[in-house]
Amino acid sequence: MAIKVLLNEDEIPRQWYNIAADLPSPMLPPLGPDGKPISPDMLAPVFPMNLIEQEVSQERWIDIPEEILEILYRWRPSPLHRAKFLEEALGTPAKIYYKNESVSPAGSHKTNTSVAQAWYNKQFGIEKITTETGAGQWGSALSFACALLGLECKIFMVRISFDQKPFRKVMMQVWDGNCVASPSRETNAGREILEKFPDTPGSLGIAISEAIEQAVTDESGKTRYSLGSVLNHVLLHQTIIGLEAKKQLDKIGEKKVDVVIGCAGGGSNFAGLSFPFVLDKINGAEIDVIPVEPYSCPTMTKGPFAYDHGDVAKMTPLLPMFSLGHDFIPPPIHAGGLRYHGMAPLVSQLAVEGLITPRAIHQLECYEAAVMFARTEGIICAPETSHAIAAAIQEAKKAKEEGEEKVILFNLSGHGLMDLQGYSSFFDGKLKDYELPQEEIDRALKAIEGLPVPEISKTGKW
Ligand SMILES: Cc1ncc(COP(=O)(O)O)c(C=O)c1O
Repeated sequence: MAIKVLLNEDEIPRQWYNIAADLPSPMLPPLGPDGKPISPDMLAPVFPMNLIEQEVSQERWIDIPEEILEILYRWRPSPLHRAKFLEEALGTPAKIYYKNESVSPAGSHKTNTSVAQAWYNKQFGIEKITTETGAGQWGSALSFACALLGLECKIFMVRISFDQKPFRKVMMQVWDGNCVASPSRETNAGREILEKFPDTPGSLGIAISEAIEQAVTDESGKTRYSLGSVLNHVLLHQTIIGLEAKKQLDKIGEKKVDVVIGCAGGGSNFAGLSFPFVLDKINGAEIDVIPVEPYSCPTMTKGPFAYDHGDVAKMTPLLPMFSLGHDFIPPPIHAGGLRYHGMAPLVSQLAVEGLITPRAIHQLECYEAAVMFARTEGIICAPETSHAIAAAIQEAKKAKEEGEEKVILFNLSGHGLMDLQGYSSFFDGKLKDYELPQEEIDRALKAIEGLPVPEISKTGKW
């Protein structure tokens, strides 16, 4: 029995899959401050035009430039593992597979898009990229890509993670990235927040505002902003994960997958693995597709589908997405990359359509799952990833109760070797489950009052 399925470099997918071409019901457009759909040129101060073209593309398949593939070969195709030892420990008849994105140089799936984004920026003549980072995975992934392509990289890292994960900053430094804690005193957005809340743990929404502000105020015109999740082009670059997984399952004769799982912060690793399988579901296959979020930041399971900004200072357009409100500051759980108030519009639209079924899991169950995984499969996963593992274990237990030999596939989005503080707090009994009180959700949702309300469009098929 194969427990590790590898592809040769010449078997790597040569096109990304764009699910926008196959949505059963259309996605609503992003809106500008006047409430009207934005045009691509309105995004030009923020992103290079070649990435904006991808953002709005309706082409089903988009070629991956050869130079990008040449960088990806450093670690791709990534292995698909059969979690045989976890299966044995659970005594489940289910077959559990995971795509191992932790093998990338920065330790997560984020390099799949950081390399692509840095390359397109460079093609467009950009010299410096600004960004935000939660847990530090995205900041290190972008620093890595910029180092290879000779671009300057500036990262605003959410304060709480900056303090919890000091070595992530060092990783960014090794790859020549300049990382500061957010909110910082370098931007108007940061200074305003610090004046009101000097002890804030920060949030991705604040860090995004700072990074966009610094990009658009650079008078040389040679700086652009880069986002590590949420946007269509980011999700597009991640689809190489699911496309490889399909080839790998095919290689070992696994004809049908029953359950596909990914943790969801802004939605990119979940989308990357699942979108090629969602296409099968659109075409009639029966697959449960599950994005998993923390109970303490329940964007899709408790938030409304709304038009909202992607950041606190309202610098981004209004995106049609599940949201807890743009000024929501999530409790400081250790899965920093899942502490985001919104969800990718493409993922949100699939949830509206009923093609995917979001699930929320408490922090302690996730750490228990992560420890069980490490003690069976060996890999110490990122706290974000533990949400996917916890859901896979729930599904494997369900298969055991029902006596069904289900095939479960999840995304091992990253390793947790820089996240050991969270594990330490878990072993010391210092972590607790936190369910966001309804009053707190209602308070945060006041931020979207008065904004345009999206029409729900769905076929009702799923
Ligand atoms: C390892 C890992 N997994 C998952 C995520 C969540 O992001 P996304 O939903 O965009 O995949 C992050 C974000 O920082 C991460 O670092």
